[in-house]
Amino acid sequence: MSELTSQKKWIQVAAIEDIPILGARVIQAKETRIAIFRNTENEVFALEDRCPHKGGPLSQGIVHGTTVTCPLHAWNINLDKGCALEPDEGCVKTYELKVEASLIWLNSDCLSEF
Ligand code: FES
Repeated sequence: MSELTSQKKWIQVAAIEDIPILGARVIQAKETRIAIFRNTENEVFALEDRCPHKGGPLSQGIVHGTTVTCPLHAWNINLDKGCALEPDEGCVKTYELKVEASLIWLNSDCLSEF
C-alpha cells in the first residue's frame, strides 16, 4: 500500500489518463461541482466548476498553459490560484490535489465543508 493510500485525508478521484489533455473532468462533491483540469505539461488542477463572473462551467472552457478561458464570456481564469486575470476580478475555490503513480488524489479536508 502506498503512503497516500494509507492516509485518510486523500481521496483518489481519477487516473490522470481519465482527464483529456487541455480538457477537464467534473466530479460532483455533494452540491459542488469540481473540475479537474489537465494541461499539455500533464499538470492537473482542481477548481470549483463555476466561473467567478456569472457561474459559467469552466470545465467546458479552453485550457492553455495554466489558464482556462470561460466558454460564456471568455474571462481567463488562472488554474493554480483560481482567480481571473486582469482586467477581470474574482476567484473561485481551488482544491489541493496530488498525483502519485498516475493517480489523482484530492485532499479530503477541502471537501469537508460539503
Ligand atoms: S460566466 Fe465566465 S466569463 Fe462570464
